[in-house]
Amino acid sequence: MTDNTHLTHREPSAPDAVLLVAKSAFAAAPHQDMQRLAMQAEGLCGAQTVRIAFTEQGTPSLHEALFELIDEDVGHVLIVPLMLPLEPSFHNWMTKTLKRWRAGDVRPWPSLSITASPTSSSLMARLLEDLAETAQALDLSGPVRPTGEGSLVPAQKRRVLVCQGAPCNSAGADVIWGHLRNQQERQKLRVTGEGTMTAKSTCLGPCNLAPVLQVFPEGTYYGGVTEEAVDRIIAEHLLGGSIVDDFAYHPTGRKQRLRNLSE
Ligand code: FES
Repeated sequence: MTDNTHLTHREPSAPDAVLLVAKSAFAAAPHQDMQRLAMQAEGLCGAQTVRIAFTEQGTPSLHEALFELIDEDVGHVLIVPLMLPLEPSFHNWMTKTLKRWRAGDVRPWPSLSITASPTSSSLMARLLEDLAETAQALDLSGPVRPTGEGSLVPAQKRRVLVCQGAPCNSAGADVIWGHLRNQQERQKLRVTGEGTMTAKSTCLGPCNLAPVLQVFPEGTYYGGVTEEAVDRIIAEHLLGGSIVDDFAYHPTGRKQRLRNLSE
């Protein structure tokens, strides 16, 4: 166990744990696919432990899976992103997010390393050959599904918009979105209290307060949002009806900076 976090493209020591990372899994089937991959990867690079995690919606989140490994006192974790294509900024985003979590955690952390995009591996050609053998013809001959079924207009009073503009994303907005969506499922927020819907949004305006979300009907802006802030906004604002002043920003007609709560 080391007390410093570092991310390198090559890590000489064998990992104690491998973390397979995907973006989202909404339904049971893709979640089971990930579990199967984890079983197939057991022993990969000599690692005794192989876990899965999701950077957006899905359980466990990256935060949950990584913190569980830290609780288990593992020495070296190899992070394997499985997304295709992998955004060029992904490794930067991952480093920033992990640094933020590391800064708020007093425990010693394992050393961390991360693999390159799966497309850079020569194994990809073999994988594509294997996949080609699983191909099934698509039947497009039937009628198009009728669209005249109608829809319920949602009765929920509250809406949370989570900004996904570039400054917010580089400040970790997608993990904030994933955390909010996971909590929405766990706490049944759509049907609890006055009901809450959530949505991703383009830039909400105050980019220097990233990551930003906005809660309606009040229109309250929250800035510098962390997972802990999301938990408080859910408990105090969405369910309790009170704005969380520690993270709220109101229009003043003047530029505002993020408040550092530790000062
Ligand atoms: S990018 Fe999020 S507020 Fe502008």
